[in-house]
Amino acid sequence: MIVILDFGSQYSELIARRIRETEVYSEVISYRTSAEQLRQINPHGIILSGGPNSVYDEGAPLCDPEIWNLGIPVLGVCYGMQLMVKQLGGTVERATRGEYGKASLFIDDPTDLLTNVEEGSTMWMSHGDSCTQLPDGFKILAHTDNTPCAAIAQHQQKLFGVQFHPEVIHSQYGTALIRNFVYHICGCEPTWTTEAFVEESIREIRAKVGDKRVLLALSGGVDSSTLAFLLHEAIGDQLTCMFIDQGFMRKGEPERLMEIFDQQFHINVEYVNARDRFLAKLEGVTDPEEKRRIIGHEFIQVFEEESNRLGPFDYLAQGTLYPDVIESADTNVDPKTGERVAVKIKSHHNVGGLPKNLRFKLVEPLRKLFKDEVRKVGRSIGLPEEIVSRHPFPGPGLAIRILGEVTAEKLNILRDADFIVRDEIKKWGMYHDFWQAFAVLLPVRSVGVMGDKRTYAFPVVLRLITSEDGMTADWARPPYDLLEQMSTRIVNEVKGVNRVVYDITSKPPGTIEWE
Ligand code: XMP
Repeated sequence: MIVILDFGSQYSELIARRIRETEVYSEVISYRTSAEQLRQINPHGIILSGGPNSVYDEGAPLCDPEIWNLGIPVLGVCYGMQLMVKQLGGTVERATRGEYGKASLFIDDPTDLLTNVEEGSTMWMSHGDSCTQLPDGFKILAHTDNTPCAAIAQHQQKLFGVQFHPEVIHSQYGTALIRNFVYHICGCEPTWTTEAFVEESIREIRAKVGDKRVLLALSGGVDSSTLAFLLHEAIGDQLTCMFIDQGFMRKGEPERLMEIFDQQFHINVEYVNARDRFLAKLEGVTDPEEKRRIIGHEFIQVFEEESNRLGPFDYLAQGTLYPDVIESADTNVDPKTGERVAVKIKSHHNVGGLPKNLRFKLVEPLRKLFKDEVRKVGRSIGLPEEIVSRHPFPGPGLAIRILGEVTAEKLNILRDADFIVRDEIKKWGMYHDFWQAFAVLLPVRSVGVMGDKRTYAFPVVLRLITSEDGMTADWARPPYDLLEQMSTRIVNEVKGVNRVVYDITSKPPGTIEWE
């Protein structure tokens, strides 16, 4: 295992993912972890992440200086390298010219860390400080035009540093460098495989749950679906999935979900039709946050009632993922003060997310995984591809894509329009070209003309976007003919709509959803 000490870099998580891509397990932990704690964890290697601070800032985050003497290989990245240099007696100074973006790497020593990294290849830099004098025993492995110490090593204690970011995609030989570190320098074996994870999880679930009953709130998204498959594999009919149909899912989705889980894979699913309840609660409600709150609250209400009816259950299965674990951990640093700060919650409130104070014990078998790893696990245990690679869908569903009051009539309109959007991108073979592609219904009406008659009906917005992770997004540039096809079909086939518009707002400043 490799541990990453997080000094507040936006890339710490990415380093962990890159290492795991080499089939070596890695975890992000606080920079405050002591040398003694690290000795107990006993990792094969330690990576010090980058960070927003300068090592000379007052209160800049430092690591336990005993870390250098543990005998465990260390790789400092950017801030991590500068910290290593400073703490071991070298000098770090504000560079006369900062280096941001791509830089060519010139290699002075092509061994160990830089094996197979090509001379002159591109590495991605982002630093205002530079190491100007190395501590005793260190040597330069590589430089760039602006940075004499771009990669350094002190072989005796296996201490390494790179000023660039090998983890970002723009660093051409970044993966090669990471492989050199984890395999050759740290001696890791490629044991973090999907198969090994599934096997171990099944063993752990069985050991934990024994002959007790487990309840799972199934939404049809990739996380809860993978969880259901994994638990079913481990404990069979001791698992009960509860699928609460709030009435805000896309056309045909509840039926399809039941078909896959219940009929095809014989997983115990209790279908709860709560459509009327949710709709009644939303009557007259137009404020987006109020809608989300009511839906979230009602979900918990229904869940509690139904779990009482179906129970008792001993365990509740939750689809907590590794980024949630990192976010709630003590790992964020204020860029100005270097102090720990309350962590920004990136993930949205998810109606599938239940409060922790329910009377169940938790099983969270996915808590070590990143999203892409969940997909791999899902695939490997037979989850159908239509679920594995499904576009993200918000917990409150279509209710937050109908601006203003949600009514049964508007739900029908939006469901039909949304179906056409997805149907067309599938026909064009473009489903995977978008992060999301959906329709939004506006609460205004405009005038149109159809068959010589005046119409006065709702506009539908098409929202087709590309994104890496949903945190930022760009509006997609699909072929005009595809947009035309969607527009024609929606106006012709969906009663109540006479106009289709295209949203050309990126995120930021827009958000992906309209509410
Ligand atoms: P925004 O609208 O903030 O959305 O740009 C970013 C991503 O999150 C999804 N989203 C949600 N997912 N529960 C969820 O599980 C929610 O309440 C929720 N709201 C937004 C959205 O679809 C996009 O992928």
